[in-house]
Amino acid sequence: TSSDELIFFVNGKKVRRVVGLTGTKLGCAEGGCGACTVMLSRYQPFHTNKLISQHYAVNACLAPLCSLHLVAVTTVEGIGSVARKLHPVQERIAKSHGSQCGFCTPGIVMSMYALLRNNPTPSMADVEEAFQGNLCRCTGYRPILEGYKTFTMVRTDGKNGCCMANGNGDFQGSKDKPEATSLYNTADFEPYDPTQEVIFPPELMVR
Ligand code: FES
Ligand code: FES
Repeated sequence: TSSDELIFFVNGKKVRRVVGLTGTKLGCAEGGCGACTVMLSRYQPFHTNKLISQHYAVNACLAPLCSLHLVAVTTVEGIGSVARKLHPVQERIAKSHGSQCGFCTPGIVMSMYALLRNNPTPSMADVEEAFQGNLCRCTGYRPILEGYKTFTMVRTDGKNGCCMANGNGDFQGSKDKPEATSLYNTADFEPYDPTQEVIFPPELMVR
């Protein structure tokens, strides 16, 4: 490995040449639509908490290749598929009718996924903020937000929760309850378990 070699991973594999993935979409090519959103993860050796990597939802159309040195890139293919198993972020947008033409969906999925990787118990305000860079021309956003509401929780004391909402209405804290849902049956959703996410590539843990 020479010191001027560009090293990065895509979906857990070190990139050697062309990766040939088609899930990430090119909409505007100028940072306006979010269809190209992917997650970039970078090792944070001096972090004081337990997070060893920080995750960012990034417009791939604006990211220069050279900015990816020692970065783990995750695309929509990297989190789940119909053939393997859908990730809850993919499953819930589908089951809540949050995808119509589907062009915006990979980007929206990755914005939500990056949010959950940094914060497994987001508030609805966090979810709305995460989608500020994602446009959808079909759904009117309501089904997307309704579906992803199932990852949020509110406490009866008015604070954001600290316990796990898994979409089945099961909560580890008796005072916690999910925000209301209506377009779907949460019993159809697979639980979200953040402990099962892909680990950061050890090879990229370089100071
Ligand atoms: Fe529209 Fe990248 S293609 S933001
Ligand atoms: Fe068509 Fe969002 S589903 S743009």
